[in-house]
Amino acid sequence: MLIIIFFFPEILLIYSQNQYSFNQDLEIQLSQLNRGKDRQLNQLILDGIDWRPIQIYFQFLENSEINQETLKYITKILEISKIFFSKHLMVRKQNESLIFGNKQACGGINIPEAFQFKEYNYDLVIFVSFQFDNSSNYFAYSGPCKITIYDLRPTFGVINWNLRQLLMKNANSFNLQLNLQTSIHEIIHTLGFIEVLYQYYYDPQTLEFYNLTLEKDENNHLILSTPRLINISKEYYQCDHFIGALMENQGGENSASHHFERSIYFNELMTGTQMNGQSVLSQFTFTLLSDFGFYRLLKYKSDSMTYGKNRGCDFLFKSCKEQEIDEFCNQNEYTCSYDNSGIGKCGQDQLSDQCSYRSIFLGMNCKNPFQYQTQEQIEHFLKTKSTIGENSLCFQIIYKEKKIQTLSEQLSLIDKSCYRFQCQDNEINIIIQQNENSTIQLHCPNNETITFSDINFSIKCQEDSKKICSNQNTCQNQCNFRGFCVNQQCTCQYGYSGYFCENECDGFRKEDKCLITCDQQDYADINSMYCLTCSGNCKSCKSIFECLECEEGYHLKDKFCEPFYKGIENSSQIKFYAGISKLIFMLIILI
Ligand SMILES: *[C@@H]1O[C@H](CO)[C@@H](O)[C@H](O)[C@H]1NC(C)=O
Ligand SMILES: *[C@@H]1O[C@H](CO)[C@@H](O)[C@H](O)[C@H]1NC(C)=O
Ligand SMILES: *[C@@H]1O[C@H](CO)[C@@H](O)[C@H](O)[C@H]1NC(C)=O
Ligand SMILES: *[C@@H]1O[C@H](CO)[C@@H](O)[C@H](O)[C@H]1NC(C)=O
Ligand SMILES: *[C@@H]1O[C@H](CO)[C@@H](O)[C@H](O)[C@H]1NC(C)=O
Ligand SMILES: *[C@@H]1O[C@H](CO)[C@@H](O)[C@H](O)[C@H]1NC(C)=O
Ligand SMILES: *[C@@H]1O[C@H](CO)[C@@H](O)[C@H](O)[C@H]1NC(C)=O
Ligand SMILES: *[C@@H]1O[C@H](CO)[C@@H](O)[C@H](O)[C@H]1NC(C)=O
Ligand SMILES: [Zn+2]
Repeated sequence: MLIIIFFFPEILLIYSQNQYSFNQDLEIQLSQLNRGKDRQLNQLILDGIDWRPIQIYFQFLENSEINQETLKYITKILEISKIFFSKHLMVRKQNESLIFGNKQACGGINIPEAFQFKEYNYDLVIFVSFQFDNSSNYFAYSGPCKITIYDLRPTFGVINWNLRQLLMKNANSFNLQLNLQTSIHEIIHTLGFIEVLYQYYYDPQTLEFYNLTLEKDENNHLILSTPRLINISKEYYQCDHFIGALMENQGGENSASHHFERSIYFNELMTGTQMNGQSVLSQFTFTLLSDFGFYRLLKYKSDSMTYGKNRGCDFLFKSCKEQEIDEFCNQNEYTCSYDNSGIGKCGQDQLSDQCSYRSIFLGMNCKNPFQYQTQEQIEHFLKTKSTIGENSLCFQIIYKEKKIQTLSEQLSLIDKSCYRFQCQDNEINIIIQQNENSTIQLHCPNNETITFSDINFSIKCQEDSKKICSNQNTCQNQCNFRGFCVNQQCTCQYGYSGYFCENECDGFRKEDKCLITCDQQDYADINSMYCLTCSGNCKSCKSIFECLECEEGYHLKDKFCEPFYKGIENSSQIKFYAGISKLIFMLIILI
């Protein structure tokens, strides 16, 4: 018998939008576009326009509630975010400067006259506002409020921070990553990830609208079926019948349809809530950005993600209750989280379609040395000789003697703890801090149990070390408080270089190097101070505008690399999926 000591879910913060206002702002402009007649954008206007890295400008709106320290902190977050997008996204070069015009509001936020007619020589202007909203737990909300009529790309938007939720009380490097994730999430909405624009996405090459049906499945998930996302998803899930990404169906109008579905995409950054430090910026979001039509990707590395990977069509079309896989769970016991990055419990959240999954308790993330912990949690970690930090993982422990005594000892009976680990040729070594001056390191072969002579418990090794070793995304020292971490590499603020922003650098950055000038074939982007090499998924190129050879899984089309679906080996047997949506049913019949 176990008593629930903590609350589930550990879903901290909700990403929100001010849906009604953004729709209103955009619908007027979109109504000028007669989509019925124009199956594509005007080729003539867009012909011959070059692409270039996006330049974002943040226009802060006055607010008396915000103090200098907070302002400085948010400025840092936005500056790193801006560099991140310049480094990864290109837009069609715009000729004239941007003017907001005499609209009074953007997404419901008032825009002062001084900014309405200001000329901005940028590609996207984001108004930054602040609220102190005690009554709700949203983190920030954002969206676009003005688009260009010739390529439908957002040029003005707003991001509104809820100061109540800003994780700056202890401005540590872990919380900086969480705030950066929020910022990147919100800016991606502003870049066009918003329901009202889905039907206007188009092919960047042919300029034809995709003609998306945007139907909903029987559980009211909107199905977003853009072509590149479909191709990479078929490959990821190993499912030929993938017809589109299921979007969130819960969380109210500010969440539903604007995010990926939690029960399928789990910890993807573009799902509707942030998950205690587990979020990943995966290839799904990068690929969707390239499906909008108004962006091209620059070279990127996305976080690796394992949720649902290679699970086949069952994962997508069967209910979680019919599947006995690692992603879902049904017992109410303490477990390691799905990605083994912390200790948690099996449970549901408000977005997970009644599916239970293994999440992390507040205070029990193995990778966050700065988290607030209760006295009991501190004692548990002390007693089990745990180490918390970015190189730690959740392991099961087996007590030599196990006696339940008092209720207050419940926590001490959790048979999970955090230990430092090292991967060597896809094998795990576990490192235990014996005392302040010495550590013991032991090899931890799959499925085996290892015992240390002077501690009262054994440790169960992971089942699949290869999977764990090839799916680490964290960066050393969380980018040293100077950058944003994606897949073990940081995008650094100005003045720093190195994979973890560990070095000072006055010049350009390229990989981990600091350079005075970029190589001749590279694009020296003075906006991000990075040397940009090739476009996204390109293996070798003449320039960022002209790829010569694509990475595996991608093919060259109009000088850029597009995801190519190779097909599943021996997929001749067409399975019939009982209980799946009508759409799939029709599709199979038609085939
Ligand atoms: C950009 O400006 C140049 C010179 O002012 C003009 O010739 C050209 O047509 C403009 N292009 C667009 C797309 O507006
Ligand atoms: C919000 O709540 C905090 C304490 O929970 C209180 O100190 C503060 O005055 C409140 N602020 C507003 C604007 O209501
Ligand atoms: C667009 O969709 C409609 C119905 O969904 C279909 O009749 C039409 O042929 C499609 N057009 C193109 C260009 O695919
Ligand atoms: C660890 O090392 C320090 C300094 O060398 C020493 O003062 C201390 O007693 C050592 N602690 C233990 C437990 O050996
Ligand atoms: C191991 O267990 C024994 C008996 O329960 C206890 O006396 C001892 O302190 C424990 N040792 C450690 C290192 O926890
Ligand atoms: C580890 O054990 C699990 C079941 O407990 C089994 O499925 C898996 O194949 C084992 N892995 C290895 C490498 O033996
Ligand atoms: C998706 O893959 C198919 C091959 O299965 C290919 O014909 C198609 O062009 C790909 N789509 C895109 C957008 O590249
Ligand atoms: C696919 O089929 C070929 C020949 O029919 C067979 O040799 C191969 O093992 C199959 N591959 C898989 C993954 O089942
Ligand atoms: Zn959101």
